[in-house]
Amino acid sequence: MSQDRVVIFDTTLRDGEQSPGATMTHEEKLEIAELLDDMGVDIIEAGFPIASEGDFAAVSEIAKRSKTSVICGLARANFKDIDRCADAVKHAAKPRIHTFIGTSPLHRAIPNLTKDEMAERIHDTVTHARNLTDNVQWSPMDATRTEWDYLCRVVEIAIKAGATTINIPDTVGYTAPRESADLIKRLIATVPGADEVIFATHCHNDLGMATANALAAVEGGARQIECTINGLGERAGNTALEEVVMALKVRNDIMPFTTGIDSTKIMNISRRVASVSGFLVQPNKAIVGKNAFAHESGIHQDGMLKNAETFEIMRPEDVGLSETNIVMGKHSGRAALRSKLADLGFELGDNELKDVFVRFKELADRKKEIYDDDLIALMQANVANDAALRLVSLKVVCGTDGPQEASMVLNVNGTEKSVTATGDGPVDATFNAVKQLSPHGARLQLYQVQAVTQGTDAQATVNVRMEEDGKIATGQSADTDTVVASAKAYIAALNRLIARRDEQQPGYDTKGVSYKDVS
Ligand code: KIV
Ligand code: ZN
Repeated sequence: MSQDRVVIFDTTLRDGEQSPGATMTHEEKLEIAELLDDMGVDIIEAGFPIASEGDFAAVSEIAKRSKTSVICGLARANFKDIDRCADAVKHAAKPRIHTFIGTSPLHRAIPNLTKDEMAERIHDTVTHARNLTDNVQWSPMDATRTEWDYLCRVVEIAIKAGATTINIPDTVGYTAPRESADLIKRLIATVPGADEVIFATHCHNDLGMATANALAAVEGGARQIECTINGLGERAGNTALEEVVMALKVRNDIMPFTTGIDSTKIMNISRRVASVSGFLVQPNKAIVGKNAFAHESGIHQDGMLKNAETFEIMRPEDVGLSETNIVMGKHSGRAALRSKLADLGFELGDNELKDVFVRFKELADRKKEIYDDDLIALMQANVANDAALRLVSLKVVCGTDGPQEASMVLNVNGTEKSVTATGDGPVDATFNAVKQLSPHGARLQLYQVQAVTQGTDAQATVNVRMEEDGKIATGQSADTDTVVASAKAYIAALNRLIARRDEQQPGYDTKGVSYKDVS
């Protein structure tokens, strides 16, 4: 590979999915992996196979279906993890094992290993991984807070034991750009054998510097960037894929590096990740935020009309954003809907289209002008046909004099049940009605409402996150009626919790497995 090619390693399905509340279903993981593969991601970190049967199944299936991407699994520094990981990724045309151990003083204290004992473990585990596959990545977790001498020592051991990529994680988002560049540069200059391997950068965004740190690391000699779509990830998240890719593209004059990413696929995958993870993208988020290409102030609009480059450093089409205009109305036909959805990245089979068309017509009856964002919301609010709970009807009484009342008919496993419940406001009354018809012990962790477009007839997108027995599920829905959207989102989250109850996959969440356990 040429010296100016930067490898994009996407960890949305591992580090991103690890974020509390971002858990994705098996099907969703397969869909996201396919989109990543199609957009040209070089390496997909598909999961942490030892974490659960669910994680193992997802990594194996993604490996089987992979086209051009390398499929990587994560493993702690022990033989059991590494064997399980090798088993999961072996189906890929290009498998990789990524094994790691925390090397900073704070992280070394957890397994209570001396420096020598840890060095020996690194040697043994990397050697073991290398005996199972010829593509091995090794990470000293919390590298940026590891003593310089010790970091050099363990990196050298990993290289000698056969690691082909050395990843330098800034696990707690502590480093700063100049330091990030220097660290990689000094490692490459100091550690024997460093020129034989690829150095990777893996940054967290705790101080808002993940993108800057990753790009600086590239200037320092790193040739692999680890990142996630929308910057998804624990705490403040990881480096955002869309940011590093577009920064390298737009500022190629000062950062002369290329990636293999088809940037026109960015918007579509960003929307899918936001939808399945339940982590909405903030409107002013770089590249993929709703306002990233919006020019509302008079001065900007004037300049844009004269010459788009006045205020635009990249074109919306470069990231796959089509012009937002009125696209459809109640007279639009099925073929037009199919073609518009395809433009937005949704390829539908005949049955699915039939279903979506019915919902599109219902929406068009209530809302005169249907925008791209309305269609995206409609797609994201799809209800699985085999869902345990389905909203049949809802009538809400509200006003200044209270109490608010919700009369609901809910289909519970095929039987229609009805109730009238009261609550502190219409949404509370609605959620109480659902709870009375389908009792549950889940706790509402997040309730978020956003207008999809402008105007009082705009649809509201509602996001709900719920937790039950340590399992977290999100639900999303959209409707011109905010309370109906809320009911549907709440029911969608409950359906996911119910499905996961039935799946009976203990420890389905990667969060169930401690990264600190190295035994
Ligand atoms: O942030 C981190 O250190 C990680 C490692 C597992 C590579 O995600
Ligand atoms: Zn990480």
